[in-house]
Amino acid sequence: NTKELSVDHRLTQVCELLMENIPYYNWVGFYFKNGDKEELKLRSFAGEPTDHEIIPFGKGICGQVAVSNENFVVPDVKAQNNYIACSIHVKAEIVVPLFVNGENIGQIDIDSHTPDPFSKEDELFLEFVNEKVAEILEQ
Ligand code: SME
Repeated sequence: NTKELSVDHRLTQVCELLMENIPYYNWVGFYFKNGDKEELKLRSFAGEPTDHEIIPFGKGICGQVAVSNENFVVPDVKAQNNYIACSIHVKAEIVVPLFVNGENIGQIDIDSHTPDPFSKEDELFLEFVNEKVAEILEQ
């Protein structure tokens, strides 16, 4: 429907804005819980297309955040055993859950080609971005 399309478009714009303005954000995407299924589905992104459009809960960094409800900062992806590689260029990743009415409904996922680039500032900034996105979703 038209409303979902315009939300998708706005989410894509958010991804593009972040990727174009923050040099160490090399892939930006939003995953959402896929209906009643125990999995995440990619809804919008900027950067190279990924094969991982569906991620089961518990799998990879994203799947772990779907169940932990907590930010996950990965300074070095090689040091993670529960990690799903999307590109050989990726060195680090950050995933911040997206809450609507206190419920974890999805997440923003960012990959970086720079080692250990993410600070507390990124976490706070991405929490703020997700609060704004939650407002878009509630409209
Ligand atoms: N690396 C993620 C998978 C998604 S890609 O980064 C786009 C993970 O381990 O969950």
